[in-house]
Amino acid sequence: MATQKQIQLAKRPEGMPSDEHFNFVETEVPSPNTGEVLLKTLYLTVDPYMRGRMTDAKSYVAPFQLDEPIDGGVIAEVIETQSEKFNKGDIVIGHLGWQEYSVAAEDNLRKIDPEAAPVSTHLGVLGMPGLTAYFGLLDIGQPKEGETVVVSGAAGAVGSVVGQIAKIKGCRVVGIAGSDEKVQYLTNTLGFDEGINYKTSNVYEALKSACPDGIDVYYENVGGEIGDAAFSLLNKFARIPVCGAISSYNKTEKDLGPRVQTKLIKSSALMQGFVVNDFAKRFQEGAEALGKWVKEGQLTYEETIVEGFERIPEAFIGLFEGKNLGKQIVKVAEPDIAVLPHN
Ligand SMILES: NC(=O)c1ccc[n+]([C@@H]2O[C@H](COP(=O)([O-])OP(=O)(O)OC[C@H]3O[C@@H](n4cnc5c(N)ncnc54)[C@H](OP(=O)(O)O)[C@@H]3O)[C@@H](O)[C@H]2O)c1
Repeated sequence: MATQKQIQLAKRPEGMPSDEHFNFVETEVPSPNTGEVLLKTLYLTVDPYMRGRMTDAKSYVAPFQLDEPIDGGVIAEVIETQSEKFNKGDIVIGHLGWQEYSVAAEDNLRKIDPEAAPVSTHLGVLGMPGLTAYFGLLDIGQPKEGETVVVSGAAGAVGSVVGQIAKIKGCRVVGIAGSDEKVQYLTNTLGFDEGINYKTSNVYEALKSACPDGIDVYYENVGGEIGDAAFSLLNKFARIPVCGAISSYNKTEKDLGPRVQTKLIKSSALMQGFVVNDFAKRFQEGAEALGKWVKEGQLTYEETIVEGFERIPEAFIGLFEGKNLGKQIVKVAEPDIAVLPHN
């Protein structure tokens, strides 16, 4: 019987996750039944939201179970099929375990075209992070030409797309990120108007000078003191899509800061939290728009690809250390049959 490696949640972290929270387990490669396929994992995504699933607090997604495989978005190749919908060599995306091989029901998979774009982009700019940027900025942020949009976590998967869409919409865009290299990437490669390194500057002062007309949209990815600084510069009727608060995900004590109520009242600002799945019915629209902008060269992207199944925990932990530029992805294996022209 063939065996494979799988990563299970060994322990619930308090604070920053580390190797002890992940368990590498040898399991049997499963066999597909009717309506199912056997998949070889090619690429998988590690995302900040997975940190929330490692705790057992009630949230919008169920927690990972102890001694069960961690799961998330995976690009895989069909290597055995009991399904009429899929052939051997098809490339699919699905929500699967952190393991080298998986069996999945045909209805839980979507075929993707490896000719159209690198398959890994379906985990980044053309996938969940891209859609998060698209709907959070356009539906909640409602940016208008000439307005100032500030985005935190700006050099990451979501933030880099937010800023570029805001530029497409004719806004002044200021990005906040954690290194000079990232700031240069924002301004030199992505066309942001200004970038701020939050680790080396007073964010409030830097924002004040980068946003002489105040802030109309603050796209929140990070929270904490960076959010506090942006809240002090809101214009009348500003909008604040609250996408994430990564600065608090590994905190062990309560994350208290300046209260926002008076700032919202004074600016008549609208602050709205969301999860990307709130827009699930419109994913097709978002994917088409993102795909068109990428094709036209209006939207560019970066992927930080770590190679090797063993390095999945390292890639995940790296998200909280700012190791990634653009989307963090893990390349697990080459396909057996398919040819991936772009990867
Ligand atoms: N609401 C939703 O449906 C939804 C969907 C996807 C993502 N999100 C949220 O959106 C945010 C960005 O996600 P992503 O997938 O695009 O991740 P990402 O930005 O590609 O990666 C995480 C980045 O966060 C920054 N970071 C880490 N710890 C930080 C801290 N303590 N303070 C400030 N910055 C820190 C790091 O960049 P630096 O080098 O700049 O520090 C790191 O590269 C996260 O908060 C995530 O939870 C929400």
